[in-house]
Amino acid sequence: MQSFDTLSAAFAARFDHRHFPTDPSTLYDPAHYFLGLGGKRIRPVLCLMGNELFGPIEADAWQLATAIELFHNFTLIHDDIMDRAPLRRGKPTVHDKYGSSTAILTGDVMMVVAYEYIAKIASPHIRRILHLFNQTAAEVCEGQQLDMDFEAREEVTMEEYLHMIGLKTSVLLAASLQLGSILGGAGLGNQDKIYQFGKNLGLAFQIQDDYLDCYGDADKFGKKVGGDIVANKKTFLLIKTLEVATDIQRQQIKELTTASPDEKIAGMLQLFHDCGVDAWVRELKDKYREAAVQSLEDIAVLSVRKEPLRELIDLLLQREY
Ligand code: IPE
Ligand code: IPE
Ligand code: MG
Ligand code: MG
Ligand code: MG
Repeated sequence: MQSFDTLSAAFAARFDHRHFPTDPSTLYDPAHYFLGLGGKRIRPVLCLMGNELFGPIEADAWQLATAIELFHNFTLIHDDIMDRAPLRRGKPTVHDKYGSSTAILTGDVMMVVAYEYIAKIASPHIRRILHLFNQTAAEVCEGQQLDMDFEAREEVTMEEYLHMIGLKTSVLLAASLQLGSILGGAGLGNQDKIYQFGKNLGLAFQIQDDYLDCYGDADKFGKKVGGDIVANKKTFLLIKTLEVATDIQRQQIKELTTASPDEKIAGMLQLFHDCGVDAWVRELKDKYREAAVQSLEDIAVLSVRKEPLRELIDLLLQREY
């Protein structure tokens, strides 16, 4: 059983080449630029680990892992347009560097190339794989739309927030694991368990992402800190703050909506802190970490085979980038 670092390096060795033609360079160079910025490569490694939990890694798993990472990068390029984000992985976003029209098309063509890799899969499970991949892609769109819808709303419940992040983020982590497990020959019960593991891990992962967006070290995080506050995102930080805020604090939040971006960030960070954000992030992450651990332990394979997935949990949830 291979660790995250080993599989990540093995994946990089296969993935880090040019996936696109050269002409027109105005379309394909931005795609190449974005992939060259790297990233943690969590989802392809999850696919490989999902496979290896049940058997030796198959040739198809590398194609599938490649498709998943391309799909993920496509979602990030479009996400950065929607979120008006200037920075990603410490570098300018595609739309800021090349314009929004190019960023839309670059994302589109990256998704098309993702499907080209799926088309290389020889497994008899290809129909099931394609269906799960497509279902997941549609769910990510649903989650992203809800994320946008929530920007325009004044209040969003915790339940609605969890539903939204489950769709925009968790389903892709969960599906990456399940897709790998399908190739490994996992039975339906085990597939379901590994999906639930990924779903809970994904919720905790997005909770950490929302936390880092406020309190991360910009150099490590690689995104503009405070971006969610400026974009009026309904993160758990805001939702929990609104739950416990005094009338005076609620008034302050109202007034900050018309403040300058820098004032708004500073003011909201102070309010989140005063209202106890550090305790909530711990509490929430623990809740979903424990649920993830339970699902992992329920998978009916030898316990030692699960070790890389166990190690991955803290790697993802203690991350600073
Ligand atoms: C960013 O995902 C999008 C979220 C779901 C929070 P990652 O944090 O995995 O991004 P990269 O690929 O490592 O840059
Ligand atoms: C993004 O959520 C989820 C997807 C890209 C589908 P965020 O908007 O929080 O991700 P970051 O913080 O920009 O990476
Ligand atoms: Mg974003
Ligand atoms: Mg977003
Ligand atoms: Mg974020």
